[in-house]
Amino acid sequence: MNIQHNISLKPFNTFGINAIAQQFVEINSISELEEVIKKKPSFFILGGGSNILFTQEIIPFVIKLNLKGIDILNYSNDDVFIKVHAGEDWHSFVLWCINNNFGGLENLSLIPGNAGAAPIQNIGAYGVEVKDVIEEVETLEINTLHQHLFKNSDCQFAYRNSIFKKELKGKHIITSVMFKLSNKNHTLNFEYGAISEELSSKGITNPTIKDISEAVISIRESKLPNPKVIGNGGSFFKNPVTSISHFKELQIKYPSIPHYPISENEVKIPAGWLIEQAGFKGIKKGNTGVHSKQALVLVNYGNAKGIEILELAAEIQDSILKIFNISLEIEVNIY
Ligand code: EPU
Repeated sequence: MNIQHNISLKPFNTFGINAIAQQFVEINSISELEEVIKKKPSFFILGGGSNILFTQEIIPFVIKLNLKGIDILNYSNDDVFIKVHAGEDWHSFVLWCINNNFGGLENLSLIPGNAGAAPIQNIGAYGVEVKDVIEEVETLEINTLHQHLFKNSDCQFAYRNSIFKKELKGKHIITSVMFKLSNKNHTLNFEYGAISEELSSKGITNPTIKDISEAVISIRESKLPNPKVIGNGGSFFKNPVTSISHFKELQIKYPSIPHYPISENEVKIPAGWLIEQAGFKGIKKGNTGVHSKQALVLVNYGNAKGIEILELAAEIQDSILKIFNISLEIEVNIY
């Protein structure tokens, strides 16, 4: 095991924040992970670094999880069970599934990050959430070094949430995820407005999983900044849920307010719309800003510190609270 000293984490987080790891170790197996945890009781686990904002400038000990491998566990006429190890790049895994004609993940194409992080915030896009196809999640419990298996129903999946973000936060490390995908008669999700528009612009009426993946990739590329070019952590806030009565009050003032019904009493409002209405879309403040094509994405235009991004986020939260009486909850992990 090779412990490195004073390593910049800038290349390891999509926000491109220059936090420094005083000690940094890359882990390639569960036994190596156990060994390092026994020696260092306090550490930060880094996966793909795509949903994290470092506000601390110095981080004492960072473990980079590089657990690799994709195993086909069971293959039947209709379904396939696939285990992906936590350190695999998410989008490469999605493309591998599509190339093998395994269906279920195509709407989740081009999401940055590693496979092991997908269940933590139940990644979702264009009408699909990863919980829809997760069968089981394997973890290593930090205190006991016992390995655990969580069935889908144990994971308490919800919108951008799971047990791993709530009571088990910081207690378990996800080591692999098992998916149940289709190997024929795929259930396709292309009702989502932007996907159907993209497919019809290409004249596709009977799409394959590859067509859907390609449509999702071009929509994402047109709206979301490429983290290799402009630092960002995807959607910075969750889309807020509010009561129907509050929504109706807002609708009088803003008749075109977009909304999605959640239950009989609640609606979800796109945070991007609220932020745009409040005048933040496309703004630049020092090294930070709000993306010009999707107001839900905060960006690092250069050498921003994590704390500067957090200050901009707080200003946006204050403004949305004042204007709409809605609290925006941060979706990205802050460390
Ligand atoms: N909108 C605006 N202005 C903006 C952005 C959005 O008015 O600048 C309004 C529009 O009315 C638009 C609606 O918001 O129709 C929804 O926008 P979009 O389809 O881009 O989706 P979103 O709700 O802003 C969510 C996810 C994204 C995911 C997309 C597509 C969250 C927090 N974000 O964004 O996920 O890609 O849906 O399914 O739920 C991420 O989590 O990092 C992420 C990028």
